[in-house]
Amino acid sequence: MKKTALNILFIIVLNTFFLQIALSQEKSIAQRVDSVLNLMTLDEKIGQLNQYNDDWTATGPVTIDTSKARQIQSGKVGSLLNCMGTERTRSWQKIAMQSRLKIPLIFGQDVIHGYKTTFPIPLAESCSWDLEAIELSARISATEASASGINWTFAPMVDIARDPRWGRVMEGAGEDPYLASKIAYARVKGFQGNKLGETNSVMACAKHFAAYGAAIGGRDYNSVDMSDRLLLETYLPPFKAAVDAGVATFMNSFNDINGIPSTGNKYLQRDILKGKWKFGGFVVSDWGSIGEMINHGTVKNGYEAALSAITAGCDMDMESRSYINNLAQLVKNGKVPVALVDDAVKRILKKKFELGLFDDPFRFCNSEREQKELNNPDHPIAARDVARKSIVLLKNQNRLLPLSKEIRTIAFIGPLVKAVNQNKGFWDVEVPGVDSSYVVSQWEGLQRKVGNKVKLLYALGCSIEGDSKDGFGEAVNIAKQADVVILSIGERRDMTGEAKSRSNINIPGVQEELLKALLTTGKPIVVLINAGRPLVFNYTADNAPAILSTWWLGSEAGNAIADVLFGDYNPSAKLPITFPLSVGQIPIYYNHFNTGRPALSDDNRFYTSSYNDLSIWPKFEFGYGLSYTTFQYSNLHLSKKKLNYNDQIEVSVTIKNTGRYVGEEIVQLYLRDIVSSIARPVEELKDFKKLKLEAGQSETIKFIIDREKLSFYNQQLQWVAEPGEFDIMIGASSRDIRLKDSFELVE
Ligand code: NOJ
Repeated sequence: MKKTALNILFIIVLNTFFLQIALSQEKSIAQRVDSVLNLMTLDEKIGQLNQYNDDWTATGPVTIDTSKARQIQSGKVGSLLNCMGTERTRSWQKIAMQSRLKIPLIFGQDVIHGYKTTFPIPLAESCSWDLEAIELSARISATEASASGINWTFAPMVDIARDPRWGRVMEGAGEDPYLASKIAYARVKGFQGNKLGETNSVMACAKHFAAYGAAIGGRDYNSVDMSDRLLLETYLPPFKAAVDAGVATFMNSFNDINGIPSTGNKYLQRDILKGKWKFGGFVVSDWGSIGEMINHGTVKNGYEAALSAITAGCDMDMESRSYINNLAQLVKNGKVPVALVDDAVKRILKKKFELGLFDDPFRFCNSEREQKELNNPDHPIAARDVARKSIVLLKNQNRLLPLSKEIRTIAFIGPLVKAVNQNKGFWDVEVPGVDSSYVVSQWEGLQRKVGNKVKLLYALGCSIEGDSKDGFGEAVNIAKQADVVILSIGERRDMTGEAKSRSNINIPGVQEELLKALLTTGKPIVVLINAGRPLVFNYTADNAPAILSTWWLGSEAGNAIADVLFGDYNPSAKLPITFPLSVGQIPIYYNHFNTGRPALSDDNRFYTSSYNDLSIWPKFEFGYGLSYTTFQYSNLHLSKKKLNYNDQIEVSVTIKNTGRYVGEEIVQLYLRDIVSSIARPVEELKDFKKLKLEAGQSETIKFIIDREKLSFYNQQLQWVAEPGEFDIMIGASSRDIRLKDSFELVE
């Protein structure tokens, strides 16, 4: 053997020896990370910051690259996305194990609302205000995904959205920072389970940092222009909640904020996230967003883009190849201190250790477990439960719903009745080897529910888009033969989602005209609105006797809808986002300021802040949603009327189910700061409780108000509560305030 070969062999043996030491169980993760880092060359370090798309499916513009395997082998890749299934992830991991230091890959995937079992889209699920159900849905998604080779989900998306033209409104929890924060926390807990390192836990990723939901005009990827106060008070709280829940990773966002792309935004990533919030995980860019800073015009080329992103605190480069192509040079040229690279690498290695990947890189690749979890019978049961809880009853004239069990013939009409995949919503996952036969269509759900006791008639009526009314005749004809008509209309699932912004959010095509034609039969009609966003459907809202917002409910959609139609589940959901009257009313949200000339009623819009040609009210307000039963609110009681700074007020209120059905009510607590040094919203959600009551039952519930709930960012951006009077409002929605009182904060 030649001397050089002997040298190489010696180095390999030595490295393996050191690596073994690094991996020893006794060492703390920090020590183990340091030991690995000490063995790494600069190129290997940069490799850890590099993430590529596998070729299974694409969720962004793909770069054709046939050398991925070779790059992984030479330690140039730290993570892959869009790589699923134990077989495929195992085969990539095996290649990573051929690299010099055998550092395992992490596999990331958009598991947004389910893996195989598909849950309601996040906006729909948020209508449940049911934090346990939401956590469970994330838990199950993580269980399935982790059994199928995934160890990192790019969820939850926690962007506040006030503009339904923005397609990604479907992916978040709506417009309110308080509710969205609670939901963000629940989702992170659900995905990550007891702790990273258990084989059914995946790393969560709070995205998109930050203010992506405030894209001007609701146009995806667009710029954001925002005051610091709005950012801190409305857009950042759900991210902070994710940090509090222990989220492992963050993703930055495509947009610029006030001219600075988030990906290169030091204030957000270093000062706030890693500084003030002490976030110990790592930040991944969005797909190509480092390179896209060239288009933003804030950097000249990939070299400058990499410099800007790493300096700002972005640790991993998703698919832009800016780090792998430029970071080494930047370090060599003294532009990037190696300490910055080390910090990013350490953050990533730490997570790999926490996931247990260094101990067993194949621990998520157990095909038996994969089969077991993908066919776990408990999962559809949970999916059906959360789907029912996500359906919002928008209208129910003459108590048309629940449908009487006496009904003999139902005409089920519309382009979404027999659709299968549509129910899965935008971010369904193409799990290898899994077809859609387990998805319960609306038709199948109803069929199962009524068996052969009820005759079901079907007509398409029309398509989702297009102007053909050729099917109207047949639809009207079967409607005439039925006791009741159910009409299922709405969007296509891919009309809302990433890059799916729309200037027109009316129900597409001739679907509302189909309703008009059906109404001429005089038959009672229940309309199901299927959509990923708040749509505008004033004709339907004003003329259909009963309406359910069914969103996209996932693989158990049909069963869940049938349960609600027949009263086997009494709807309890409430809207987490305002439904506008028209596109011209956007942005419209409940927690606005009063202005100097508030419009208080439609009867007096004279020289007030309102549109001359529109009501001041939205079509359906934040917090709105009906039930088959009714609830009476009474006995609002405050334990004291003067609150000292460090004290609390206990608020109690009695809720009674005054109707005929068992039901759940989401009781909402809003506050208003009457006079403060800066203008404050007319109302802000500060707490809520969901409670279940039998018919006739009543319960007294309690809320606590403390200084934290009264605080806001003052002119100096300090988080303060100012003394003075506050209104407290208890409501069934942001507009349907049932009880009101006030108290004073004293110094
Ligand atoms: C771009 C999207 O903005 C992001 O949310 C997603 O996680 C990545 N693509 C990966 O698919």
